[in-house]
Amino acid sequence: MEVRAPGRVNLIGEHTDYSDGWCLPLAIDRECRIRSVPRPGRVVTARSAELAGTVQLALDEAATPAGPRWGRFVAGAIEVVRGRGHDVGGADLAVHSTVPAGAGLSSSTALSVALVLALLPPDAPERTDRDLLARLALAAEVAATGVPGGLLDQMASLYGRAGHALLLDCRSLAVEPVPLPAELAILVVHSGIERELADSEYAARRAACEAAAARIGVPALRDATADQVADDPIARHVVSENARVLACVTALRAGDLPAVGAILLAGHASLRDDFRVSRPELDALVDAFIAHGAYGARLTGAGFGGCVVGLAPAAGAEECLGATLADYRTRSGRTPTGFRVTPVDGAGVTG
Ligand code: GLA
Repeated sequence: MEVRAPGRVNLIGEHTDYSDGWCLPLAIDRECRIRSVPRPGRVVTARSAELAGTVQLALDEAATPAGPRWGRFVAGAIEVVRGRGHDVGGADLAVHSTVPAGAGLSSSTALSVALVLALLPPDAPERTDRDLLARLALAAEVAATGVPGGLLDQMASLYGRAGHALLLDCRSLAVEPVPLPAELAILVVHSGIERELADSEYAARRAACEAAAARIGVPALRDATADQVADDPIARHVVSENARVLACVTALRAGDLPAVGAILLAGHASLRDDFRVSRPELDALVDAFIAHGAYGARLTGAGFGGCVVGLAPAAGAEECLGATLADYRTRSGRTPTGFRVTPVDGAGVTG
């Protein structure tokens, strides 16, 4: 069997998913593919063209997998598939991913979703329930990393739709595809900084959001009003960001791309000043995008490094990207990498 699961870029709606809020991600044309071949015996092996080492997992021993650290993702996926009552048999998994690691483009999620799809039996009812698959992939990822993520990344990878972003309601898990205008180019630039501190700071931000909701007396910050969070910058970001997601969808539907760009910039400012997950290099990258013709730009993903997403007119996209890369290199002394992404369909079995 062969499966694929794309990475994602989030246009707006950052650090809102675990407060039951809204997000606007898209699945991108960078993906993880796994070819799985049954093997005799009770061992699962995994090799990857990009990740070093060979994972080897004895199915009847409760030991941590021998080999590289990414074996924890394989172990996590096996655990959740078994937790659904399915047997996992011996298999050789060949993993190939084009999602850059440590960039905030959900390479771990693409791997986890693909692993769950590769390890579920072919006729498992879970295959047709994307909400459940998202939860299983999240559980596998949390088991592997210990980071208490929300469902944004998994839902984006599973529900992706070519040509569309996805308005995701993280309370009901309703997904509404939003067409992206053809004249809009989505550009992604990696700052050259791995997401340092992302895991511990992420957990701290999530705890602060939950504490704020408890203090206000609401189930989650989605239910708080701007007045209720006026004096709490962390909570203020979540409330203002939710409003920006909905405003961004309205602007996209109206084809008002300058307004979309302004909303992205406001989102970045809020992540920088209120939620405090930016870094000077990411701010410089946003400035460079704007200086070279983008409608708007913002850090995407958890923050603390990784990527900035910029929206530019398709007609000038190559120039915008080239000039942004050169400018940022000069401003920061870092080595960025950048590319254009297109929205693709979500994860599934390919053969
Ligand atoms: C990471 C998490 C997501 C989400 C984003 C921030 O990507 O995995 O669940 O919280 O950060 O928006």
